[in-house]
Amino acid sequence: MSSPTVLGIESSCDETAVAVLRDGRVLSNVIATQTIHRKYGGVVPELASRAHHKTITDTVDQALQDAGLGPDEIDVVGVANGPGLMGSLLVGLSFAKGFSLAYGKPLVGVNHLDAHIYANFIEHQERYPAVALIVSGGHTRLVRVDGPFDHTTMGATRDDAAGEAFDKIGKMLGLEYPAGPEIDRLSQGGDPQFAQYPRAMIREGLDFSFSGLKTSVLYDLKDRPPEEVRASLADLCASVSAAIVDVLVEKARRAVCEAGVGTLLLSGGVSANSMLRARMATMAEEEGIEIQVPSMIYCTDNGAMIAKTAEIRYREGLVDDLSMQPYASAAD
Ligand code: KG4
Ligand code: ZN
Repeated sequence: MSSPTVLGIESSCDETAVAVLRDGRVLSNVIATQTIHRKYGGVVPELASRAHHKTITDTVDQALQDAGLGPDEIDVVGVANGPGLMGSLLVGLSFAKGFSLAYGKPLVGVNHLDAHIYANFIEHQERYPAVALIVSGGHTRLVRVDGPFDHTTMGATRDDAAGEAFDKIGKMLGLEYPAGPEIDRLSQGGDPQFAQYPRAMIREGLDFSFSGLKTSVLYDLKDRPPEEVRASLADLCASVSAAIVDVLVEKARRAVCEAGVGTLLLSGGVSANSMLRARMATMAEEEGIEIQVPSMIYCTDNGAMIAKTAEIRYREGLVDDLSMQPYASAAD
């Protein structure tokens, strides 16, 4: 049986992203990244919702055009309805409701964190049971996945998310928001042993804590003359990356062993990180497990992951209606 044609809409943070998926194949994947936040060093919620409002119609039109389909050829409308910024979520959700109503198509709400996990199944076979590590700008979470949407949280961050640590430390180093990709690039020419930063809670349970690392880097930078910081930028970046990656790899190793599963699903914006991908691959080999990681384009926020997750929810009979509401926090 062929899978439905799905329109996926993502607007939970600072990307207006829309994709079309047909028979499990991504026909189009349009991502409008908001640049306005750069000058503030982080996402400004009110500006984010206004920017979504401005771009949503054109982004949907572009995704349909790239896919070569008319709106009436869409079978299912998938939309991220949380967690995220309320004003931003409302823009995508209202658009999706309007589309669903106008064309008489079923509406499927998608949890943004689930979408990061299921992004793996755009290019890989669905595999259960598995452990998923979600590492994004807003979340760091280990989840046991026993079947479609059968999830148990094994660990989560107690303070900053891994991506947030990259971004905040990048700001201290004078890098533009979001700093993760630039730290990654600079790290490739640096010495990860240059500075010894803490690996908080690395031997303790499956929760994470990254705020101490931020403070430790702050004090370390205060002790170094500005010209030394500039000259050692690559080494400092590599040391920061190693501190974050060490913790993520060790916790993922422990979670997979504790759960007794043979598959690790890596996902979220930080899973684009080259040091993390390389170190996870080595760990997977050592533990004899399979590791799935999405292509770079499906790691950071995108519409295809929403469409894929909506496709699986629809298959499982999980359909919503026009009363669906957005929610801000993962716990809601
Ligand atoms: O998943 P995502 O696009 O948005 C959220 O749901 O948060 O993740 C964005 C985060 C940002 O913190 C960004 O700095 C980080 O992912 N990021 C990276 C890399 N690419 C994106 N962090 C480290 N290395 C990268 N290559
Ligand atoms: Zn995300």
